[in-house]
Amino acid sequence: MSVIGCGYLGAVHAAAMASIGHDVVGIDVDEHRVRSLAQGSAPFFEPRLEELLADGLEADRLRFSIDISDAAGAAVHFLAVGTPQVAGGHAADLRFVDAAIDALLPRLCPGDVVAGKSTVPVGTAQRIAERIAATGAELVWNPEFLREGWAVHDTLTPDRIVVGTAASVEGERAAGILREVYRPAVDGGTPFLVTDLATAELVKGAANAFLATKISFINAMAEIAEAAGADVALLADALGHDTRIGRRYLGSGIGFGGGCLPKDIRAFAARAEQLGRGEAVAFLHEVDAINLRRRERAVQLVIDALGGLVFGKRVAVLGAAFKPFSDDIRDSPALDVAVRLRGLGADVVVTDPAAIDNARAAHPQLGYARDRDEALRDADAVVIVTEWDEYRRNLSPVHAGSLVAGRVIVDGRNCLDAAAWRAAGWAYHGMGRR
Ligand code: UGA
Repeated sequence: MSVIGCGYLGAVHAAAMASIGHDVVGIDVDEHRVRSLAQGSAPFFEPRLEELLADGLEADRLRFSIDISDAAGAAVHFLAVGTPQVAGGHAADLRFVDAAIDALLPRLCPGDVVAGKSTVPVGTAQRIAERIAATGAELVWNPEFLREGWAVHDTLTPDRIVVGTAASVEGERAAGILREVYRPAVDGGTPFLVTDLATAELVKGAANAFLATKISFINAMAEIAEAAGADVALLADALGHDTRIGRRYLGSGIGFGGGCLPKDIRAFAARAEQLGRGEAVAFLHEVDAINLRRRERAVQLVIDALGGLVFGKRVAVLGAAFKPFSDDIRDSPALDVAVRLRGLGADVVVTDPAAIDNARAAHPQLGYARDRDEALRDADAVVIVTEWDEYRRNLSPVHAGSLVAGRVIVDGRNCLDAAAWRAAGWAYHGMGRR
């Protein structure tokens, strides 16, 4: 099989497919990325990826190339290129999808399966299916639900596999081929759902819209809790015991970021508007607005905690990645909080176990410390914005208190034990917590 596009999605997919016995070539236009992958080195932080790369390369089941003609001869071509937000708008930019299809078209043979994994606006798959029809290859849509940080786990043991096909004998055959591709997971009990193309595309957009809505729901409750003197973390625990609601994705704080949820809800709404159904997902604009308000709120908490002014104050920012177990800083709320504080004249020192290099490249104006304790030293306030274990579990409030100039902490992820921090003499400020 070939995997076209070796970013977070494609690189992991290629390595994971090789690990279950397939013969895989990963294709990408980025020479540096291809070279790194071919040497077994992951171009981004992703647990277990390098292990899989090493195994696949050694077993000769995995290779990487910048030459799309190396995709020729593969029976299944996975399309895993990025679909970023267009500059100056909310829709998805399909430039890389179209370029990949352009390049692949002359290499397709009758009976080949092209399996789209990229997150695309509904209707894209039909358009691609029409473009490749003359080659005799068949298009299926096979959305990906992996989470960064858990990408290998989610690829090898997904909670469901969705395959959208055309309603035809060829479509049915292509779905059968995908079932074979994923046999270990299917045999292990993973539900395998066959749908039409449009439904498969929608499952992905709807899943991310739902997750984003759940996070913004609890963050909206945090706003109410703040005004009412209630505690949103306790509220989330109590809500979560209702199995119809569930506790997951009720983590309150500075909200969601990353390369997926923010852009995907915008692209979903933009596509709904094109389809004349914008009002059906008008709530997603509110989900977005609630989410962005939380970053501002975290900054305000730091300002208030420091008596109204952050100018010239040293603020230790714990975290830069958009979430733990990742070095991804795309649309990171953590880094956004740091940038806003810096913009107000604070002397910001950011630390993160994995994302400092990426953060520094994007925001060289911020101060950085590789060492957590160095970041904490002499800080007038501390703000935790990415809940890495180094900050959440393994940082003792007594030890932290011995390093800082002022025992003021803003918990942007509601992940600390407030009582323990207060007992160690800290002024603890959660988001929507008493
Ligand atoms: C998300 C989805 O979870 C995946 O299923 C999907 O495949 C992926 O997007 C994608 O479209 O490719 P990911 O972006 O890796 O995965 O991140 P999540 O783990 O979902 O976290 C997203 C953001 O929400 C993070 O900033 C995280 O800190 C935040 N979050 C998450 C909360 O603020 N509260 C929560 O309770 C959970």
